[in-house]
Amino acid sequence: MVRLRPSCLFPFVVGFSIITLLCIYLPNKSIPLNVGNMSAFRTSILVSTRSVQLFQTKKNEEVVIAVVVCKNRTSEALVMIKSAIVFRGSSDLRIVVVAEKNIQQEFDETLRDWKLLTNDSFSYEIHSIIFPKEHYDEWEKLFQPCASERLFLPSVLNHLDSILYVDTDTLFLSNVDDVWKHFSLMNSSQLAAMVPEHEDMNVGWYNRFAKHPYYGKLGLNSGVMLMNLTRMREFDWISQLAPVLEKYRLDLTWGDQDIINVIFHYHPDKVYVYPCRYNYRSDHCMYMSNCKSAEEYGVAVLHGSRSTFRTKKQPAFRALFNAMSQYQLGSDPVKYLLETAASLLNKTTDTNCGRLAPIFTHNMRLMFKTV
Ligand SMILES: *[C@@H]1O[C@H](CO)[C@@H](O)[C@H](O)[C@H]1NC(C)=O
Ligand SMILES: *[C@@H]1O[C@H](CO)[C@@H](O)[C@H](O)[C@H]1NC(C)=O
Ligand SMILES: *[C@@H]1O[C@H](CO)[C@@H](O)[C@H](O)[C@H]1NC(C)=O
Ligand SMILES: *[C@@H]1O[C@H](CO)[C@@H](O)[C@H](O)[C@H]1NC(C)=O
Ligand SMILES: *[C@@H]1O[C@H](CO)[C@@H](O)[C@H](O)[C@H]1NC(C)=O
Ligand SMILES: *[C@@H]1O[C@H](CO)[C@@H](O)[C@H](O)[C@H]1NC(C)=O
Repeated sequence: MVRLRPSCLFPFVVGFSIITLLCIYLPNKSIPLNVGNMSAFRTSILVSTRSVQLFQTKKNEEVVIAVVVCKNRTSEALVMIKSAIVFRGSSDLRIVVVAEKNIQQEFDETLRDWKLLTNDSFSYEIHSIIFPKEHYDEWEKLFQPCASERLFLPSVLNHLDSILYVDTDTLFLSNVDDVWKHFSLMNSSQLAAMVPEHEDMNVGWYNRFAKHPYYGKLGLNSGVMLMNLTRMREFDWISQLAPVLEKYRLDLTWGDQDIINVIFHYHPDKVYVYPCRYNYRSDHCMYMSNCKSAEEYGVAVLHGSRSTFRTKKQPAFRALFNAMSQYQLGSDPVKYLLETAASLLNKTTDTNCGRLAPIFTHNMRLMFKTV
């Protein structure tokens, strides 16, 4: 019979105590982040740290972030790309820029500099805008200049399996792996992930104004979209587009986003809806806070739709954009990004969105380990 010496029992006792302590101190359900109340905030940080660890991307998996850029959106797009580099995770990061010819050189020069500054922490590729010959002018001018190029990415980026597509007016405020992990939560019919256009029926746009079919109760926002390009090609996505354009062209207020909504209205099994914190817009805070996932886990991707990064309409959104815009890659992110953002946000607490300041810096604090 094997007899344990008392000294061998020590690790068991310690291990058992740790497990017991964890069971006592980690609540099952996260506690909503009560903004402006730091004791509640700290509790939720503990919970969130745990939830982030539940979903690590697979080792050596690549995160591919794609953006389409035309006209005067170059500097805005570069600020978004900078945020992706700052918030890169343990996976390799590839930046894909689809841009008009005359601005490609500026991307190439800036991204080459940033690669040097960050010790080759990412790779990049630059492609030209391509539209089909059929309806060329209409596609090019739909909604914003060349915005509808995103519809054709399954063919333009024929060499890629999957991308995280983002609008130029977005910013990462959390680990990019945290967005990408949702690919592993999609089932085999789902070819894209998006957030609802609104959270609240009373202020929703599609349910009140749309003259065309749309997805679900409130429609989808396409500003931050996981796209499994392989599945989109298998679905023959591109050939579905022209018939929708022809049928609804006079009703398409939001251009290509409306086309996406029409297609997913008829194929609801092919879209995966993720929480609003992955595409957080001023609609989520301007009247009242209505994005629960952001209150609990902090904003993951901020979307400055309706020009909130460039105008004075939403000072909190502008503050975050300015903080990222001023930040120099390679410098200390705690001192020159987090602290700048916190102090700029601190001047916006007279607005509804500004009052929620902790949800915008929450994941930065976790990532830079200042908690
Ligand atoms: C902060 O939240 C905690 C827990 O929800 C509560 O007990 C405390 O009274 C709150 N403090 C303030 C100042 O609101
Ligand atoms: C780009 O130009 C348009 C039209 O001149 C202007 O309304 C818009 O604010 C500009 N956008 C940026 C990001 O500078
Ligand atoms: C740069 O990357 C290389 C290879 O990944 C690594 O060996 C080196 O330590 C890194 N240098 C710095 C300053 O991080
Ligand atoms: C995309 O779909 C293809 C085909 O179903 C699959 O093999 C691939 O793993 C998917 N990509 C991601 C990132 O989930
Ligand atoms: C994937 O999920 C959607 C939505 O829940 C569902 O309609 C569809 O049948 C599922 N597909 C598979 C293959 O399980
Ligand atoms: C925010 O401003 C208040 C008053 O102006 C100040 O007491 C506080 O320290 C500031 N907080 C941060 C994080 O800058």
